Amino acid sequence: MRVAVLGCGNVGSALVGILEDRAGALAVQCGARLDVAGIAVGDLSRPRPAHVPTSLLTGDAAALVVDPSVDVVVELIGGLEPAGSLVRSALEAGKPVVTANKALLASPEGVHLRALAAKQGVDLLYEAAVAGAIPLVRALRESLTGERIHRVMGIVNGTTNFILTKMAEQGADYADVLAEAQALGLAERDPTADVEGFDAAAKAAILAGVAFGYDVAGADVMREGITSVRAVDVEFAERLGYAVKLLAIVERTGDDALSVRVHPAMVPRTHPLAAVRDAFNAVFIEGEAAGELMLYGQGAGGLPTASAVVGDLIDAVRNRQAGTTAPTPDRQPARLLPEAELVTRCYVSLDVADRPGVLAAVARVFGDHNVSIRSMEQDGFAGEARLVFMTHPAREGDLRATLADLRDLGTVERIGGVMRIVGES
Ligand SMILES: NC(=O)c1ccc[n+]([C@@H]2O[C@H](COP(=O)([O-])OP(=O)(O)OC[C@H]3O[C@@H](n4cnc5c(N)ncnc54)[C@H](OP(=O)(O)O)[C@@H]3O)[C@@H](O)[C@H]2O)c1
Repeated sequence: MRVAVLGCGNVGSALVGILEDRAGALAVQCGARLDVAGIAVGDLSRPRPAHVPTSLLTGDAAALVVDPSVDVVVELIGGLEPAGSLVRSALEAGKPVVTANKALLASPEGVHLRALAAKQGVDLLYEAAVAGAIPLVRALRESLTGERIHRVMGIVNGTTNFILTKMAEQGADYADVLAEAQALGLAERDPTADVEGFDAAAKAAILAGVAFGYDVAGADVMREGITSVRAVDVEFAERLGYAVKLLAIVERTGDDALSVRVHPAMVPRTHPLAAVRDAFNAVFIEGEAAGELMLYGQGAGGLPTASAVVGDLIDAVRNRQAGTTAPTPDRQPARLLPEAELVTRCYVSLDVADRPGVLAAVARVFGDHNVSIRSMEQDGFAGEARLVFMTHPAREGDLRATLADLRDLGTVERIGGVMRIVGES
């Protein structure tokens, strides 16, 4: 079986290494030897790790994909183009594709590519696109295929989990920990995709498809990143018995709509997701019959991600030889829950003037919008007071109206942290 590898960066070069090191074992598992037919790169002059055979490098990915001797295509370039066109051309030529490209899969073109693969009767496999080495997509697609899943929620971005872990453990500010993460190579120089939640939103969209059978685009996911999470909120959360995590959540709501969202959340210390530290990922699944499950592991990195790619590659090769494909249940367009209808408990921290009557005025604003207060704490400092409210479950629309009115209240100096509370039983 001849394999075209598109991209030889972190993941592509690790994949080439595994294919070489484990060639004998993989041949046994696949029932055929896997030969790398070519490795497409963007810049032929760039130095490569020693194990990458330079004779296989090519700058012409499009020609490699349609080379009649190529049986399977692995796309590890990333981004929408040229990756999208290359995947399309492979599928049109009847070749199975393995990809780790979450951005492409969560784009409108991703929906078309899945439909094209189904029409062509070839595999489009993407285990590595969500949570790296964690066998999540296959677990949802196969082991849990008969399960009615209520909710999938996970820590699917290692960079933000590293930052939030350090903020909690060192009491450090967001900006300082981001700089540390960048120095360690755990955050990109432009960290926007991670810290603003775009990466997690693409993964949430993919999970909505795999776990619930709905087509959701990454752009339609309700999204909030971690840039406004303050050290003081993390410390307060810890004091109250919560860990702060950036969660990707996909859940059925009462009327069978789907809520797909990414936001920082306060998770009770007793919840398994609260114990996931540093750059690790974990996904917590709640099913009707299965109950609660959690999958945990390395969500990124060249080798862990390449491990998931190899699993898909073996599947694709076996399926091709057997003249079959992995199951691809029909998808429907999702009915997404409007953001204003989301109901969660919330943490709201306000800095107010330390004067009589202020608390009553603030509490009235919450009441005017039907946001019921469960508890309140007050700290005084330098003529101001910090009021920290925990609400009962409230509609997002009502909470936003409350915050808008609080902003207009002369005695509220600033609205500090606002965070949803998730995972309480
Ligand atoms: N890195 C991770 O931890 C991780 C985890 C999960 C999923 N993924 C996904 O895996 C994919 C690859 O990520 P990565 O980290 O390996 O990316 P990367 O290190 O940036 O590598 C990208 C590769 O694509 C090549 N490339 C760029 N333009 C090309 C073109 N026009 N034709 C052919 N090759 C081209 C680059 O060539 P040059 O080397 O010549 O520049 C490079 O080798 C992405 O979809 C990413 O989202 C990555």
